[in-house]
Amino acid sequence: MEIVKASNAVGAMVDQVDLTALDKGQFGQLRSAFFEHGALFFRDQNLTPEDHIIFAERWNDIDINRFFTPVEGYPQIAKVLKEPDQQMNIGGGWHTDHSYDEIPAMGSILYALEIPPSGGDTLFAGMHAAYDALDGDMKARLEGLQARHGNAHIFGKDSEYQKKFGGRFGNTESAVQEAVHPIVLKHPETGTKGLYVNPGFTLNIVGIDDNESKELLAQLYAHIMQPEFHFRLQWEEGMLAMWDNRSTWHYALNDYHGHRRYLNRITVAGVPLH
Ligand code: SIN
Repeated sequence: MEIVKASNAVGAMVDQVDLTALDKGQFGQLRSAFFEHGALFFRDQNLTPEDHIIFAERWNDIDINRFFTPVEGYPQIAKVLKEPDQQMNIGGGWHTDHSYDEIPAMGSILYALEIPPSGGDTLFAGMHAAYDALDGDMKARLEGLQARHGNAHIFGKDSEYQKKFGGRFGNTESAVQEAVHPIVLKHPETGTKGLYVNPGFTLNIVGIDDNESKELLAQLYAHIMQPEFHFRLQWEEGMLAMWDNRSTWHYALNDYHGHRRYLNRITVAGVPLH
């Protein structure tokens, strides 16, 4: 097995490995690499839905997404699908999955089945690198602050997003989750500090006035959106990507209108954040 850093801020490519035949030692290596790099990318995997589930369950229990359409016969697997006649894609903006949950999902495991001839890349951003690059004053200002996250504006039945999305999310009446998490998160596995706010689901910073909250979030987002914190993944069919939701953002580019893009996603349960 060969693990090579994909960029200085986030991600590593893993080659010469078959995810259906990992021994204990290899899994241990992957686990360390996952928490070190925040995302791992594997080419040339040949996975059935059962293989995908077995691999996910080696990490932790599956955290079933409430809103995505599941694969028929496999409620644990969510379809990340855009048809040629659809305009909006899933995940087409910077976000991290499930930050609106009290116990946010540890990670997401996405397996590519159908990729457009060009386009449809996914951007990743590294939250540890972004935090490290902040100056001392900003680090001191953020220490102890918390942010509120929610999902009604995305998955709720009356949300503008859901309307534009053509009602493709299900279960919209249960989009009521809200949670408060630290802005500077000590990673639950490694203790490394990273930023834990995202434009998709963070609503506001707790305990400061609205304008100040908007300004500070905008400042942090502009900082994280600098390309030196990013890696751009060009998909191939049979590729599997997995990312740590506590230490990365991702953004699925929507630049392949008229073509089908289809991946299967499993979300793996996390632990409480402090
Ligand atoms: C997602 O946000 O989970 C989808 C990512 C992708 O389709 O690349």
